[in-house]
This record gives sequence, C-alpha cells and structure tokens, in this order.
Amino acid sequence: MAPVSPPFDRVAVIGAGFYGSTTALRLAEYDIFTTVVLTDVVAGKAEGLALDMNQSRPIEGFATTVVGATTGMDGSGYEVLTGAGVVIITAGLPRKPGMSRMDLLATNAAIVRGVAENVARYAPDAVVIVVSNPLDEMTALARLATGFPAHRVMGQAGMLDTARFSNNVAEALRVPVARVRTLTLGSHGDTMVPVPSACTVDGRPLADVATAEQVTELVERTRNGGAEIVALLKTGSAYYAPSAAAARMARAVAEDSGAVMPVCAWLTGEYGISGVYLGVEAELGAVGVRRVVERDLTPAERADLEAAAAAVRAKQSDVESM
Ligand code: NAI
Ligand code: 2OP
Repeated sequence: MAPVSPPFDRVAVIGAGFYGSTTALRLAEYDIFTTVVLTDVVAGKAEGLALDMNQSRPIEGFATTVVGATTGMDGSGYEVLTGAGVVIITAGLPRKPGMSRMDLLATNAAIVRGVAENVARYAPDAVVIVVSNPLDEMTALARLATGFPAHRVMGQAGMLDTARFSNNVAEALRVPVARVRTLTLGSHGDTMVPVPSACTVDGRPLADVATAEQVTELVERTRNGGAEIVALLKTGSAYYAPSAAAARMARAVAEDSGAVMPVCAWLTGEYGISGVYLGVEAELGAVGVRRVVERDLTPAERADLEAAAAAVRAKQSDVESM
C-alpha cells in the first residue's frame, strides 16, 4: 500500500462551542491538513473563531487554513463539508451540574440527527467521529442517520476516560503520566468499565504498586471524571482533554496509522457482544475502525462489560425513533 503522507485535505468539526473550537485548533496546529472546517448554527460564531485561529498562524507557525461557516437546520451552509475525509460532530448541549449525560438525550438527538443527515449528503465518504452526549447513544443515532457502514462511524469517549484514569493514577502515586498505562472500556456513563488488570506503572501491574483501596478510589474517580469537572465549572463541561482525544482519533484516521485506541465502536461478536456501540479498543485507519481488538479481562471486568452492553443497548434502541 502506498504510504500516506500529509498534507491531508479537509477535516471538519461540527459545532463551534468549547469542544468543537478547541478540537479545530488542535487539528490546525498539527499542521497536517490543508483545511480545517468549523461550523455552527449561531451566525458568525464559527467564522469569527476561524479568523481568530488563522491569525494565530504567524505566531504558532502552522499553514493549515481554518474555514468557518454558519449552517442552518435546513441544511444551508453544509456544502463547506464537501471533500471532508473526517467529520467530528460536537454539536449539542453540554450538561449542567446535577445533570447526567442521559438528561441530554432528547435535545441532542434532534441536533445530531439533523447534523448527521447533512454530513451524509455533503461528505458521503467521510469517517464520522461523534462526541455529543450521551455519547454511546448519539454514536448509534449518527450511524442510523448517515446510513454509513458501522466502521465509518465511531464515538469518542474511551480515549478521554483512559486519559483521566492515567492522570488520576499519576497524581495518586506521584509518578510522571508517561510512566502510566491505563484503560477504560464500556459506556461513557454510569456503566463505564475502568480495567485495572490492563493498568501498569513502569510496566508493573497497578495491583503491585497501589493498594486495593487506592485502586477502588482511582476507578471511582475515573467514572466520575466528567461530573467532577462539571461541578467545578458550573456552566459547561470539560473540553481540553476531550478535544485532545477526538483530534488524535481524527489524526489516526487521516494518517491511516493503525493506532489502537479505546473508542466507541460497533460490536459484531467481540467479547461475545453484538449489535451495540460500546467502548472497546480498536485499530483505526482510513476506513475508520479497521478491527476491534479484544484483550483478556478478569471475570469481573468481563461481567461489567456485558452489563454496560445491556444498559447501552436498551437506550440505543430508544434513539431509533428520535
Ligand atoms: P457548547 O455549548 O460549548 O457548544 C455546543 C455548540 O453546538 C454550540 O456552539 C451550539 O451553537 C452548537 N450547535 C447546537 N446545535 C447545532 C447544530 N444543529 N449544528 C451545529 N452546531 C450546533 O458545548 P461543548 O462543551 O462544546 O460540548 C459539546 C458536546 O460534547 C456536548 O453534548 C457535551 O456533552 C459533549 N461532550 C462529550 C464528551 C465526550 O467525551 N464524548 C466530553 C465533553 C463534552
Ligand atoms: C465529560 O466526560 C461531560 O462527557 C463529558 O467530560
């Protein structure tokens, strides 16, 4: 196969809120795309942010052009997506303190369905990365609304939750984050499955360097990672780590890199689970998800993953009518 090298053509981010705009800037600063498209329904918002980002180019020294566009619920403005190889959907409301991600279901379903239909119209060959919440359900909905094959629609959650787990371990054990490896699977919600058996510090199992009580606390803090930040911010949710996660996934697709990352992917029998979008490790490439990568889990972790699949499957069938 011919090597894939930059510059890659066009990547698009739908929704120019905190998550979307930060993602667009990260993608532009990689300096591997000719164009980063940023869109929003609020007139002028994406254009203004794009102009601001482009004005940072002489200082930061990247050549990518950010193009901002206002889109309408009627599909106006979406022609700017033409030729996009990757589209990241961030459009939708974030939660407020006390809200669960699931409280966003109906509102964000209407937004994500409309966006996804227009993505399918104007970027029919794109790989779609969904970030809008509730993540597992919005990913399932985007697949239905685009009609794309399942490997071309995935969700971002596991990269973020895993990064939080690693940061929590590094802080608790007072070691540099680079020496920590962790993993989360399952849903981006109450049935998130942090996987202690896959965690190491300097290559040593987490269970050898932390007490059982510490591991339990680290797992709990990871599960509550999003809510912890919402409670502090009071007016929105996290976006620095989330945007880093989505941008890395888009980059792996553009580069056809084969990187293995935890993502929300469609399961067809892996771990004995089928017919549901769920957080698992997957190899990413130009086709989107090349394959789901299974690993050995303890019986308890496996049972948690099965419980997550059951919980998410029920909600994902609800979105079919939304
Ligand atoms: P935000 O409120 O800052 O931005 C949302 C943007 O979407 C706004 O600019 C809004 O005008 C725009 N928008 C609404 N409807 C639209 C439409 N039909 N077309 C285009 N744009 C539209 O929220 P933020 O912080 O950017 O979060 C975005 C979403 O990402 C939320 O649903 C949030 O819960 C989710 N999220 C997901 C994470 C994950 O790990 N999957 C992590 C963090 C946030
Ligand atoms: C997060 O985990 C709210 O899903 C968002 O930060």
